[in-house]
Amino acid sequence: MKIEEFTLERIQSLYENTVEYNLSDSGVHPYSLRELLTPEQQSQVLDVELGYGWTNGRVELRQAIANLHPDRNADHVIVTNGSAEANFLLVMSLLEPGDELVVFVPNYLQIWGWARAIGVDVKEVLLREELGWTPDLDDVRKAISHRTKMMTICNPNNPTGSVLSRETMDGLVAIARQHGIYLHADEVYKGAELDQDEPPSFADLYEKAIITSGLSKAMALPGLRIGWLVGPAQEIYASWQRKDYTSITTGAVSEFVAEIAVQPAKRQEILARSKRILRENLALLQRWVDANGDLFSFVPPKAGGMAFIRYAMSMNSTELVHRLREERGIMLLPGDVYGMDHYIRIGIGAPAHHLEEGLDRLAAFVRTELK
Ligand SMILES: Cc1ncc(COP(=O)(O)O)c(C=O)c1O
Repeated sequence: MKIEEFTLERIQSLYENTVEYNLSDSGVHPYSLRELLTPEQQSQVLDVELGYGWTNGRVELRQAIANLHPDRNADHVIVTNGSAEANFLLVMSLLEPGDELVVFVPNYLQIWGWARAIGVDVKEVLLREELGWTPDLDDVRKAISHRTKMMTICNPNNPTGSVLSRETMDGLVAIARQHGIYLHADEVYKGAELDQDEPPSFADLYEKAIITSGLSKAMALPGLRIGWLVGPAQEIYASWQRKDYTSITTGAVSEFVAEIAVQPAKRQEILARSKRILRENLALLQRWVDANGDLFSFVPPKAGGMAFIRYAMSMNSTELVHRLREERGIMLLPGDVYGMDHYIRIGIGAPAHHLEEGLDRLAAFVRTELK
């Protein structure tokens, strides 16, 4: 099996830990265990037994995740190592060579890459910038054929931070239902909406919806490596069978902490912290874009820890990003990793002074190059 390089992740893996100003993250500045847990909970961590546990996730944790949805129980949930493993199990359990998969782009291209690697025919539907990076439903209808097995969307979106309106969500559900296909949504940024209430989950709108979620992004706990799928019991069971072949189970300490984090009050506390950080940083970014409007423009994100920014300069985005890192010590993601040159992705979940310095260096570099 041949698989294309997952350039989006590869660039980060190579450089994110050595660069001075890393603005390539899409999440929120992470918690420490000390900040997250009460002293009593911290001491309970020491008593966690380091067994395998349930290979689909502790039943209490699965139930707590199911409680985030009105009509789900523990059988509708599998706990995974990050949402990355959730997406992998989804592809491996539900798609086969020759199936068609409709993918909304730009997107985190993990599912796109795995699906192509196993011989799935991937059809792309554009999120349109003029529609605030959301799809035109006519494009979706045209992309579906009798071979379409599933459509997959990232909502809130990576990299643009767009959030689908309820009307568009209902429209996608109606199309999926009409064709009897799965609707998968990666909802790992959900809960970090900046100027609106949290939208519903696709899992609560459609009987054949499957969602990926986890604690890495809106929940600011990526080091726990806890993600999950929620969907129909039979499909979740099929993904569990694949997990026997991947990681078997998640870490016992992570599951213990995750169960605390997903309790409704704690989850709201965590999301409030994320939204406070992101709102302050988005205001900072907006001021910077306004001050540099001759060079940069964007549709402000509605959720999540990143902004997708168009720049007015002929330099290719990969070259721009490598030179920024080598010459100015800042790291961004090039639009190229999404197949969209002349855009850059900037993380807005870092501490404000970090973002401010990175943005100053970016503007200074571009102005020097344009002289
Ligand atoms: C949309 C989306 N899904 C999944 C992942 C994987 O995240 P994790 O495995 O840390 O939960 C990412 C990481 O950037 C992402 O952006």
